[in-house]
Amino acid sequence: MEINWFCPVRLVFGEGSVKNTGKLLLESKVKSVLLVSGSTHTKRSEGYKAICASLEGVGITYSEFGGVKPDPDQDQVRAVVELLKRDGHRALLAYGGGSPMDCAKSAALSFANEMDILDIVYGRKIAQKPALPVFAVPTTAGTGSEMSSAAVTTDSNAGKKLGFSHPSFFPKIAIVDPELQYSMPPGLTAATGMDALTHAVESFLSIASNPVSEAINLKVVSLIGGSLLKAFAEGSNVKARADMALAAAIAGMSFAQTGLGMVHGFAHPVGARLGASHGEANAVLLPFLLAAYIGHSDAKMAELAKALAPESDGSPKSLVDKVIAMNKAMGIPVSVKALSEKHGIAAAKAEKLAPQIVADAAAYRSRANNPRAFSDDELGKLFVLALKGDIGEVAGL
Ligand SMILES: [Fe+2]
Repeated sequence: MEINWFCPVRLVFGEGSVKNTGKLLLESKVKSVLLVSGSTHTKRSEGYKAICASLEGVGITYSEFGGVKPDPDQDQVRAVVELLKRDGHRALLAYGGGSPMDCAKSAALSFANEMDILDIVYGRKIAQKPALPVFAVPTTAGTGSEMSSAAVTTDSNAGKKLGFSHPSFFPKIAIVDPELQYSMPPGLTAATGMDALTHAVESFLSIASNPVSEAINLKVVSLIGGSLLKAFAEGSNVKARADMALAAAIAGMSFAQTGLGMVHGFAHPVGARLGASHGEANAVLLPFLLAAYIGHSDAKMAELAKALAPESDGSPKSLVDKVIAMNKAMGIPVSVKALSEKHGIAAAKAEKLAPQIVADAAAYRSRANNPRAFSDDELGKLFVLALKGDIGEVAGL
């Protein structure tokens, strides 16, 4: 057995930790920073005000890029690069969900290497220099970007979401303050929480997993099993929010080592082509992939089943059933068709786009690590079943 574990992220976790942001940056010799965040709504939040006050309190100068949209594309990354050039900052502070964190990482690497982000993610140019340092403050419990070496950039011309990993994408410090997540609305709690669950499940089932990642992922799955529905129902539940914040962060550390699997392989094109949020796409697809793994990864699925629901019989099917039940409890659609309709795309259009979605999924970078080596034909059939919501037929694949 060989393990090569690399996660050079300092994790600072705890209620109120956002107030120490300025001090932590100063300890890292940062004197000025570009603060990257999402919607303008973010800027009115207490957490954002706290982060600004904390920078000002220690005399760190900063400028703000507050417009990162969900699933940031090349233009967003380029805009952040332009701001780095204009204002002269040599560090970035990302505040928000996966989108601002990923956008900051991509811009940090693009700027340092003087290369366009699409040249880097398509492999047309190799980024030799490390990215500028990124400090991450997550306000959702899902992406794990605060602890991972991955960032997703959308190529808006091709309609593709492109995951890319780089050793220098690990943030210098992840400041994980569960209090920032108390105000997350239930729908976002559900979607991001199921993203975190998918990270742990896919990392655990990956053929590149190892005993360290497995230990972390089982802990993540058990934290999520115990706390996601509580955080969904009662946003200010202190323990549930802390469990979810920690679960999402350490899942990011783990999947950065092992890669993910075909739930993400499908979720990226479903998000890019049908407009679904990343978390929701994962949530809808996860039971279908898990159902297809029965008979291929039973012992590991049994471990996951017990971790997610200790009261279950621990069978692989009980894992599928539990995920379906969690989705149902949080109002997540039962099929890709229903998901696309929810986002204003007619079922007929989703069906028409299916061949492109399957082709994108077939080219997913972590496909080789998937617990079941699907043929292209099987991937196509599985996606048709996920489109229709026909989970009962997956066993026959
Ligand atoms: Fe994800």
